[in-house]
Amino acid sequence: QDSSGARVFNLEIQSGKIALKDGRETETWGVNGPFLGPTIRAKRGEEVAFAVHNGLDEGTSIHWHGMHLPSVMDGGPHQEVEPDGVWAPQWTMNQPAATLWYHPHPHGRTGNHVYRGLAGMFIVDDDESAGLNLPSEYGVDDVPMIVQDRKFNGDNQFDDNASFMSMQGILGDEIMVNGTLGPYFDVTTRLVRLRLLNGSVSRLYNFGFSDDRPFSLIATDGGLLPTAWETDRLQLSPGERAEIVVAFEPGETLTLRSNPADEGYEGPLGRFNGGDDLLDICEFRAADTLADTTEIPETMGTAPDLAEAEIAAERSFSLSGFNQINGESMDPMRIDFGVREGTVEVWEVENADGFMHNFHVHDVQYQVLTVDGEEPPPRLRGWKDTVQLNPQTKYRLAMRFADYTDPNLPYMYHCHILVHEDSGMMGQFVVL
Ligand code: C2O
Ligand code: CU
Ligand code: CU
Repeated sequence: QDSSGARVFNLEIQSGKIALKDGRETETWGVNGPFLGPTIRAKRGEEVAFAVHNGLDEGTSIHWHGMHLPSVMDGGPHQEVEPDGVWAPQWTMNQPAATLWYHPHPHGRTGNHVYRGLAGMFIVDDDESAGLNLPSEYGVDDVPMIVQDRKFNGDNQFDDNASFMSMQGILGDEIMVNGTLGPYFDVTTRLVRLRLLNGSVSRLYNFGFSDDRPFSLIATDGGLLPTAWETDRLQLSPGERAEIVVAFEPGETLTLRSNPADEGYEGPLGRFNGGDDLLDICEFRAADTLADTTEIPETMGTAPDLAEAEIAAERSFSLSGFNQINGESMDPMRIDFGVREGTVEVWEVENADGFMHNFHVHDVQYQVLTVDGEEPPPRLRGWKDTVQLNPQTKYRLAMRFADYTDPNLPYMYHCHILVHEDSGMMGQFVVL
């Protein structure tokens, strides 16, 4: 804590090395360590203050993905930290409990910086969620899982060449969870909550267990669902998060996998973009006796409620050609539009390409109203800040802009497939 009562976090962005393959070192970047960064945790209403020191020899930034906060604290391309510079954002946590994350956002180089290892989780807590009997013991029955893929070259270094015939960039054939290859987890409780983050630069995951057992989706990007939804598959595109609860039997071993998924590609392009891949994510090894003290409550979070709201403006966004939104590429000097604080807008977002995109908006959580005119599938019915866009499909998103205004400093919206974002599939808006 500092004298203002804020909780202070020191973040040191650094380069390093980790021994991943046969004990041979891979060069990496990380926050407060050689690879990835610490889980940050703070409670709604709490004041947080950061000292972010850039120990790299190039500029970078730290963006708080999913966070509702003033644009000057957002950590986008306008808040780059120079080598050896310090950035000191501070704000009051002002949203429901959720699994968020942080990562760099320098103009044109986000994919490179994330791939090298700059990313971490940011867990928001609140009183309502603390009062529930959900699994919530960190690292025991409440487990963060930063899921990423990597390619390695012959020298055991991360290979950042785009994959052959891929429209999405780098698709790795090896999975890392929280920076570990071949990860496993020792299960000691019947119910385990997994906070899944797709921290990959381009890969879509279609999560499911090796025996196809059902599990419960309890939270999407913006927080807990009103009621759990049972499923045996869950797709997450880059940047999306989900919290799931799975039940284990004593003594069993079970693998979380990513299964083939339909990304809407024509012909063999699906295969070149990972659509046929079956990948082991993590092995779960259950003890012979499992503690059984938690449950999934009947009611948890609040449902998005913007379907009936008064709409102040409608806008349309068409993503096309790898690097454009509405025919333009990102220009940090161009602010695309302004929205009014305190109003609700509907954004109609269309993927006009024949390949996958997704759509992320800073500062807000939105409600997916429709997908091509239909009610969205259950996995898209909670609060979202990033949504997968299937080819040739339209999504209507409703969002409220609240609390913070700044006529000069914008927030971003963009595709979170990072090679597309870095190529310019991004725009900027201000809240007035
Ligand atoms: Cu996760 Cu604009 O980023
Ligand atoms: Cu973001
Ligand atoms: Cu894209």
